[in-house]
Amino acid sequence: MSGFDKDWLALREPVDSKARNSDLLSRLGGHLLQSRPNPGEGGRALVDIGCGTGSTYRSLMRALPEEITSSLHWSLLDYDPLLLAEAERRIGKANDTLVYQQHDLNDLDGLDLDGTAFVTASALFDLCSEAFCRRFRDHLVKSRCGLYAALNYDGRTHWSIEHPLDQIAVQDFNRHQRTDKGFGPALGPDATAILQQLFSEAGYQVVTGESPWEMRADDARLQRAFLEGFRQPLTEIGSLDPRELDTWLAFRIDAISAPESLCVVGHTDLLALPL
Ligand SMILES: C[S@@+](CC[C@H](N)C(=O)[O-])C[C@H]1O[C@@H](n2cnc3c(N)ncnc32)[C@H](O)[C@@H]1O
Repeated sequence: MSGFDKDWLALREPVDSKARNSDLLSRLGGHLLQSRPNPGEGGRALVDIGCGTGSTYRSLMRALPEEITSSLHWSLLDYDPLLLAEAERRIGKANDTLVYQQHDLNDLDGLDLDGTAFVTASALFDLCSEAFCRRFRDHLVKSRCGLYAALNYDGRTHWSIEHPLDQIAVQDFNRHQRTDKGFGPALGPDATAILQQLFSEAGYQVVTGESPWEMRADDARLQRAFLEGFRQPLTEIGSLDPRELDTWLAFRIDAISAPESLCVVGHTDLLALPL
């Protein structure tokens, strides 16, 4: 339904997990520790939006100290029933401290954040428009809720083994990132900067940190899938003719197995803390 395939999400999860900015994770932990548990919930409530199959849940439950994870109450939210079903298959049935919620984020009024300490999200805000982010920010402000928004693509993709068409391919890919992904014209590489501005304007303390993917020869399956994901956007934008595109993709796929090859895809994490 969403166009995000569970196998693609599974391929990227280990690299996402390694990439997450550790400073921001420890700040998030520190802030959760200071925040008083919500008596209504009997714990600290987190809502993970655009949860997919639960990658953020798994990463945070691994990265945060037990003293915090044992007090967390999670709501995993997505509009795609297939991804929610896969999340449930991998994590387990809903219980007192974990619920699954099928909800379209475009309906922000229907997103109940009362008593929620933090909204979390990964690989989501680059799909969103500025207008959506502004409405979303206003919604969080009403509940004095914090935001952890990880793995927003920042527009920088580099290969250590270069090809003359790399720059134009990345430019076209980035242009396509700004097309509508269901929330209006997407922010693409500007997502973190816009979130930072919006939440700072609302008086939040905002911290950002880099979380680049670093893919080598042993990430061959992810690299190949990532490159195959260039074909449709580059065809739609059209700066490269089909022969150039085929040549470029064939070169890039061939270069994956070179022992010295490294592909870096820039991402940024953001933490917005209500003061
Ligand atoms: C790139 S995936 C990231 C999934 C997960 N956070 C992760 O890091 O693996 C984006 C997720 O946002 C969800 N999504 C996209 N538009 C949505 C909407 N309007 N309402 C709710 N979820 C949405 C998709 O179904 C998908 O699970």
